[in-house]
Amino acid sequence: MLFRFGGEVTASAARLKEKRFGLAKMELLARDITEYIEAHASPEPDYLRALARETHAKVLMPRMLSGHWQGNVLAGLSRMLRPRRVLEIGTYTGYSAICLAQGLAPGGRLLTVDRNEELAGLVKRYLHLAGLSDRVEPIIGDAMQVLPTLDEVFDLVFIDADKVNYLNYYHLIFDKVRQGGWIIADNVLWSGKVVGDHTDKDTKALQSFNAAVQADQRVFNFILPVRDGLLLACKM
Ligand SMILES: C[S@@+](CC[C@H](N)C(=O)[O-])C[C@H]1O[C@@H](n2cnc3c(N)ncnc32)[C@H](O)[C@@H]1O
Repeated sequence: MLFRFGGEVTASAARLKEKRFGLAKMELLARDITEYIEAHASPEPDYLRALARETHAKVLMPRMLSGHWQGNVLAGLSRMLRPRRVLEIGTYTGYSAICLAQGLAPGGRLLTVDRNEELAGLVKRYLHLAGLSDRVEPIIGDAMQVLPTLDEVFDLVFIDADKVNYLNYYHLIFDKVRQGGWIIADNVLWSGKVVGDHTDKDTKALQSFNAAVQADQRVFNFILPVRDGLLLACKM
């Protein structure tokens, strides 16, 4: 009996070790794959590399910045769509705004909203370095207050602000997106927490957002497992 008990302990310890080792291996693989992907993407322009560096050195929560891989995905999608009007909700230090602006059609404009006025100077400096000051308009304010005041029709909207308001933003902008226009939302996998039984408010908000888009018959939608998950929805 004692021996069997000991055997069970040994077996479960081995399983735990295997699981831990498996997880560590998966993390290493994910890191290696990300490095490989970044090594096979068009290089980050100098001004974006400098912006990422300055954000990491001086700004709180630099993980929020899109970064090279996702930045190229956003720039690539925008280059495919050639939008005339883009709306971004959640500027932060401007990395994704600069990427999205790369696909603007001639005469096109991008509006980007953020409530954090402390980053406005840095954003403007990098828009200038990227040669986009005349095409990207930062708006300082709470997106819940700003969005209802926008009287424009958008070809592309990028949602990347507070997670609890994702569904509110979706509802607020839906009628302002043209037919055939796209809504992209970042972080919809929330480090994988959306598939677990996590009960924190951000996970629950993202689960509700993903479910609402999935149930919305007015859109064609899918999720790309890029970084923390990008949801794409085309208004039909
Ligand atoms: C994840 S960061 C955006 C990252 C950026 N799009 C990028 O990829 O580089 C989220 C930003 O949303 C802003 N934000 C959060 N809640 C907001 C609100 N209610 N209205 C406007 N901005 C908000 C924060 O100040 C923060 O700068």
